[in-house]
Amino acid sequence: MSQALALQGRHLVLGLSGGVACYKAAELVRELGRAGATVQVVMTEAAQQFITPVTMQALSGRRVVTDQWDAGVANNMAHIELSREADAIVVAPASADFIAQLAQGRAGELLPLLCLARPLERCPLLLAPAMNREMWAHPATQRNVAQAVADGAVLLGPGSGDQACGEVGDGRMLEPADLCEDIVAFFQPKRLAGRSVLVTAGPTFEAMDPVRGITNHSSGKMGFAIARAAAEAGARVTLVAGPVHLPTPRGVARIDVTSARDMLAAVLPQAPRHEVFVATAAVADWRPADVAEHKMKKDGSGRPPRIEFAENPDILATVARLPAGQRPFCVGFAAESRDMVQHAREKLARKGVPMIVANLGPATFGRDDNECVIVESGGDTTLPRADKLTLARALVAHIADRLNAA
Ligand code: CTP
Repeated sequence: MSQALALQGRHLVLGLSGGVACYKAAELVRELGRAGATVQVVMTEAAQQFITPVTMQALSGRRVVTDQWDAGVANNMAHIELSREADAIVVAPASADFIAQLAQGRAGELLPLLCLARPLERCPLLLAPAMNREMWAHPATQRNVAQAVADGAVLLGPGSGDQACGEVGDGRMLEPADLCEDIVAFFQPKRLAGRSVLVTAGPTFEAMDPVRGITNHSSGKMGFAIARAAAEAGARVTLVAGPVHLPTPRGVARIDVTSARDMLAAVLPQAPRHEVFVATAAVADWRPADVAEHKMKKDGSGRPPRIEFAENPDILATVARLPAGQRPFCVGFAAESRDMVQHAREKLARKGVPMIVANLGPATFGRDDNECVIVESGGDTTLPRADKLTLARALVAHIADRLNAA
């Protein structure tokens, strides 16, 4: 399945309760549709004060249902019918009043009725709260939210930031793209629940002088995809990233670094606090031995400057040599230009790690897809060409199997 169609085959009921954030629900329907989901929109009376069913119908391609007495639903029982085929009900925005209704099991109109009547064991309820920060912080709301969660609802957000009322604080509905990412993650199996994963990603940049340096073409995409896949699988994830301009995956703690030595300094204190270390970074093997204090200028002689190099520390091998008890399960990457599996097998021994993921460097740098072979002492596992998030999920599943077997 491609990353773009992460919700292919899923059917969602998207409920809107009253709030200014209803305008974001319009974009959310489009995001969910782009991800492959079909979406049935249900709106409360209050939601219709903020956005019209016409807009939501045009964007979802389905008639919006607003009324529990809607005669257009086959058996005249919208509250039963609509959740029967749904993989989840997502309420975005979920207002303070709507959450209060849920907490009390009230069913005064179609949307809360639908939530109450859903089959608990197979139709999850996801709530994206949206309200003023004082309303969010109010003990009554916090009590209602805690009750709704205790009754099985899953919270998506809220976020923090500027609010429609002009105030700043907690209670903002998450942005549509973030909500969509959280919904995709919700459906992923929680293979790494309670585990922790440390990932390095991207290139390093080794300065020659204050304005120039040596780097490489690594885009960081594979490492970021692994961090995302591990977070989706329920792990606590720390991502140590070289200089790349990629958005941080949801829920991942990110540490930005520049050089190989910076990366090692960031990784070393983190390594003993994580159970898995995945080294995807394309770390520069060499750095200029001396960094010029000022920009190196041409001297007019036509002779290029001489640059001496020093070897960088091997981050993966350093972590793999930590004493037992402090050493995470180490996974290396090998970007080769030929004899991929053979080189990977040599690296397995040289770096002293239990798993190396081999891929062809020129065929992967900067691309959105890749293919690789997981090399272990017990044998090889081929992951066929797919987008990097799909590969990352397969790799995470493989690592989870190894951890669970240990
Ligand atoms: N790696 C690292 N620190 C380094 C070099 C590499 O942590 N200084 C990690 C990479 O993140 C990757 C693995 O080691 O997981 C393999 O990197 P690669 O550059 O392919 O291997 P090298 O040991 O540099 O071998 P060679 O240059 O001979 O291919």
